[in-house]
Amino acid sequence: MKINRKQAIERTVKFTQEFFQKEGTGHDWWHTQRVRNLALKIATEERADLFIVEMAALLHDIGDYKFFQGNEEQGPKVIAQFLDSISLPAKIKVKILDITTRVSYMKSISEEKNLPEKSQGRNPELMAVSDADLLDAMGAIGIARAFTYGGYYQRPIYDPGIPPNPDMTRDEYKTTNAPSINHFYEKLLKVKDRMTTSYGKKLARERHYFLELYLERFFAEWKGEK
Ligand code: ADP
Ligand code: NI
Repeated sequence: MKINRKQAIERTVKFTQEFFQKEGTGHDWWHTQRVRNLALKIATEERADLFIVEMAALLHDIGDYKFFQGNEEQGPKVIAQFLDSISLPAKIKVKILDITTRVSYMKSISEEKNLPEKSQGRNPELMAVSDADLLDAMGAIGIARAFTYGGYYQRPIYDPGIPPNPDMTRDEYKTTNAPSINHFYEKLLKVKDRMTTSYGKKLARERHYFLELYLERFFAEWKGEK
C-alpha cells in the first residue's frame, strides 16, 4: 500500500523515537530532532528536496556503527528494511539510503590521516543533513554532548598527562578512550572545515568561536587563573 509523504514522515518519526528508546548508548531523539529542523532550514536555502532531507535527517543515526558493535553494514540494512516497510518509491529509497550511509564524521576521516575524504560532486540533500549533524557537535550543545558521551563511557573530563591526538586515523578515532577535552581537538574544532553550505558555514563560525572561548576559560580555571 502506497502512503503519502506526510504519512511517511509520521511513520519515520515513530520508528526513530522507538529505536532511540531501546538504545542505551547516550544518543537521544532530541539530537535527531535538532538535526531534522536545522537540515530543513539549510535545505530551503540550498533548494534541496525537503522530503528526502527530512527523511534522511530522521534516519541518519539509526545506521550508526556504535549501535551495532562497530559493524558498519548492519545499520543500512535496518534502514532499508524500514523504508521497504513503508513502500517508498525505489528512487527515493536509494537517495535516502545513500545519505544515511554517508553522513558520519567518522567516515569523513580518511583511513590513514585525519583529513576529509574527497567529495563526490554536489548533492544538496546530503550537504544539508551532513552540515546539520556536524553543527550539533559544535557550540553549547556540542559541549554538552561531548561531556555526556564521556560520562556515559566513564571517561575523565581532562587529564594533562594524556595529550590529544588531532591526526588520528579512522580506526584510532573509533577506539579511543581519551578524556572528553581531547575530543575537542580530535573532532569538535575540526568540524567547521567540514561544512559544505553557506548557511552551515555561517552558523559554524559562531559555534566554533564559542568552543574556543570555552576552552580558553576551561584551562584558565584549571590553572586557577580565573
Ligand atoms: P553524531 O551523531 O553527531 O554523528 P557521534 O555519534 O559521533 O555524533 O557522537 C555523538 C556525540 O558524542 C557527538 O556530539 C560527538 O561529538 C560526541 N562524541 C563522540 N565521540 C566522543 C568522544 N570520544 N569523547 C567525547 N565526546 C564524543
Ligand atoms: Ni547524528
